Amino acid sequence: MKSNPLWQTARVAALRDLTPTVREFLLQPLDGAAIAWPPGAHLQVRVPVAGREQTRSYSLVGQPADTPGAYRIAVKRLDQGRGGSLAMWSLAEGDTLSVSAPQNHFPLEIDAPTSLLVAGGIGITPMVSMAQALARRGRAVRLLYAARNADELAYAQRLRDTLGDGLVLAVSGQGERLDLAGEIAALPAGAPCYVCGPTGLLGAARALWAQAGRPASGLRFETFGSGGQRPTQAFAVAVPRHGASLTVSAGESLLDALEAAGIEVMSDCKRGECGLCAMDVLSVEGEIDHRDVFLSEHEKQGNQRICACVSRVVGRITLDSAWRPETEALAR
Ligand code: FES
Repeated sequence: MKSNPLWQTARVAALRDLTPTVREFLLQPLDGAAIAWPPGAHLQVRVPVAGREQTRSYSLVGQPADTPGAYRIAVKRLDQGRGGSLAMWSLAEGDTLSVSAPQNHFPLEIDAPTSLLVAGGIGITPMVSMAQALARRGRAVRLLYAARNADELAYAQRLRDTLGDGLVLAVSGQGERLDLAGEIAALPAGAPCYVCGPTGLLGAARALWAQAGRPASGLRFETFGSGGQRPTQAFAVAVPRHGASLTVSAGESLLDALEAAGIEVMSDCKRGECGLCAMDVLSVEGEIDHRDVFLSEHEKQGNQRICACVSRVVGRITLDSAWRPETEALAR
């Protein structure tokens, strides 16, 4: 239910461990050069997870001129995740995989005189190209970058070289905190702020942005559907309108499982941001682990809808779909 990107086969040309849990991949398309990408863009890759080929998205790191003809991404290994990162980490140099053309849902306003970038953990990846592009244009830019441990600050030296004192680091495991409120207060009116990281970071940035009286349109964000409170595990789903009962394995999303069962669900971002995949909940036995940033906290507590692309369930859920037989008949 989503536009079909152009796919190429690419070879893993080089691997490099940036931190104990972040590995960088240089991907060289076999049938031509990489397609140039704008700051903030990402690449989709297809990897085998639990016996099925699945799609994952990773931000492109740096600018096209840094890696002529090739793409660079970085993948954080998530041992409790849905399996995509482990599949990527199992690749060796010389292996091949399918990659899409670059796509961009996180565009940079390159002409803004001043910008604030905020990254948490692996959310640093799109910020590298953004920081480089802004710095090269002579724009004022500050990048706030938090990680749990000092050895998980990927690209810190490279960003220091690009931004100098404009890079502010915080290691939460050492009790350090970013002064988000102060940084937002210091921004000139109309300056944009870009946030990429876990949903908790985005939630904090959103609240402070609103408290500061800034327009919502000035806060741009990208998440990676990582707001879950629990390890990823299998759960049961029933969709009575389709007479379907299925199990969502730990390695797939609810959206993927429904589509594999022939139940079409509208979707777009697949990161819990746009809300297009939100489905009505008829009942739940157990708990919904909401991992999106689209539904409000009030809606999440009400458990009346679930974003199928990222959110999960501990237990069993019964859902309704938007499919109506009369609509299908009219479309014929
Ligand atoms: S597809 Fe965008 S929130 Fe699920």
